[in-house]
Amino acid sequence: MSYFPDSTQQNLHRFAFSQLGAEHERMKQKPMVIWMTGISASGKSTIADALDIALAQQGRFTCIIDGDSVRGGLCRDLGFSEGDRDENIRRVAEVARLMLDTGLIVIVALISPSSASRHYARSIIGNEHFVEVHVDAPLETAEQRDPKGLYKKARSGLIKHFTGIDAHYDVPVFPEVHLNTQALSVKESVVTILEWIARRDDHP
Ligand code: ADX
Repeated sequence: MSYFPDSTQQNLHRFAFSQLGAEHERMKQKPMVIWMTGISASGKSTIADALDIALAQQGRFTCIIDGDSVRGGLCRDLGFSEGDRDENIRRVAEVARLMLDTGLIVIVALISPSSASRHYARSIIGNEHFVEVHVDAPLETAEQRDPKGLYKKARSGLIKHFTGIDAHYDVPVFPEVHLNTQALSVKESVVTILEWIARRDDHP
């Protein structure tokens, strides 16, 4: 994977925007990117949605970036090859970074199957702002859930490069938060994330 900037970068001059990085003081919150990774049907979007509601109830300002949504717009030119997934993840990380700079708590729900690309996303966003959440369900469970019927299609060969079937998922080794969605309810998953954030804010 090569992420070196091309030569046009040499002619760019970043403007020093006065408010950049200061907005969160107005919002009275610590901005961060909560990056949910996991195979399809592991529960990422459902937990992202419930977390968003819980944070809003605490008076927090948030936004959600979800794989299925960005792939209908910002990333509509991308498929599911390794290179396209890396580019998908890079774009989402860059957008998340912009949102972070406005002071928001950004919730990302993306399969993001390779540990290299998640690592790259972390480097774009900054380690101190990046919370990797592994939304973990065994493949058999995800396949039984199959809310979009995609595993069935992948098993019958109608979809190629499907994560967990004929495309790889690198299990996160040291995620900040690990959620076993087979054992935890959606509410318990949300509480686990909120508790982790509260602990970190107590001991930054
Ligand atoms: S990622 O691998 O690049 O991070 P992303 O999260 O954006 O994937 O998109 C995953 C969504 O695309 C899935 O929830 C599913 O609805 C759909 N999808 C379509 N084809 C595939 C595929 N081959 N593998 C995984 N998901 C797919």
